[in-house]
Amino acid sequence: MTDSSESTESMLAQLPMENFWDIPLYQWQGLRYRSYHLQATMDLRSHFSARHDDIILASPMKTGTTWLKALCFSILNAAASGGDNRETLAKTDEDHRDPLVENHPAVYVQTLEVQVYTSNPLPNISSMKSPRLFHTHFPYTALPDSVKTTGCKLVYIARNPKDTLVSMWHFFNNLRTPQQGPYPFEKAFEMFINGVSHFGPFFDHVLQYWNQSLKAPNKVLFLKYEDLKGNPIKEVKKLASFMGKPFGDDKKVEDEIWQCSLERLKNLEVNKNGVDPWAGMHNSAYFRTGIVGDWKNMMSDEMSQRLDRITESKFKGSGLCF
Ligand code: A3P
Repeated sequence: MTDSSESTESMLAQLPMENFWDIPLYQWQGLRYRSYHLQATMDLRSHFSARHDDIILASPMKTGTTWLKALCFSILNAAASGGDNRETLAKTDEDHRDPLVENHPAVYVQTLEVQVYTSNPLPNISSMKSPRLFHTHFPYTALPDSVKTTGCKLVYIARNPKDTLVSMWHFFNNLRTPQQGPYPFEKAFEMFINGVSHFGPFFDHVLQYWNQSLKAPNKVLFLKYEDLKGNPIKEVKKLASFMGKPFGDDKKVEDEIWQCSLERLKNLEVNKNGVDPWAGMHNSAYFRTGIVGDWKNMMSDEMSQRLDRITESKFKGSGLCF
């Protein structure tokens, strides 16, 4: 056991603990973590040194992280291979040139608390070429100071709380045995509205980044899943410009959108049959329906109105709405 894991163990013993489904979550500085995420937070805060040109994606769980990873990776990849003159990929040879065909987007954009700061020994990310692209589910307040004080950029993706909850319910059901069956949705609902979820309360997580995006719009870009679905050209252009890799014309944006679309990624062999070695989950669990308003298939009117009222009161005065 390392010194830092010993100190996290003794810290865990002092922290309030609640069960999310059957998973213990620890409350630290107002938000909830699995024990290994908390260990990773400590390691990240002591070891991660942001570069001025790093790009860090951030999100709560189930708000479109995989999509954002694919888009940002492709934007950087296309810019690196074609610069301002990036060529539109011919449909016939496209799959041979696109790394997304080989691996799930999480292989190219690693989540700091899942893939990077859980390895022992810690990987040498200082040798990575710039611009480095990472992802985290950590709340803004838990990020290391260097992320906040250097010129590195943050791209956040949020989603309406109802679809987030429903997506989460489907996702975690994948970890249950057929004997266990699906987790009761009503119980999952109560936990979510009470803030008991990974990195929850969801509302606090979203508000932290929303407020930062208002304070420093050149540093934090706040995206919504629904906007990306509704007007992908506008949103992806905004994203690419924020990343310093603006698109020349709409045809290239359209190609990028298609390349990273749910329809395409979901049907790639690697995502149909591959396994995520970090979470022990099938890659297919990360690609479901992507429907805005899917919550209507799960929530009663009473639940929906209750969650609307909570959302409204949590975001009141912030200017944020879903
Ligand atoms: P649903 O469960 O509503 O279908 P995350 O990547 O943060 O875990 O979020 C998963 C959600 O994003 C799932 O939503 C999933 O279907 C959707 N998703 C994954 N890849 C996507 C893509 N390329 N385009 C749009 N939505 C995508």
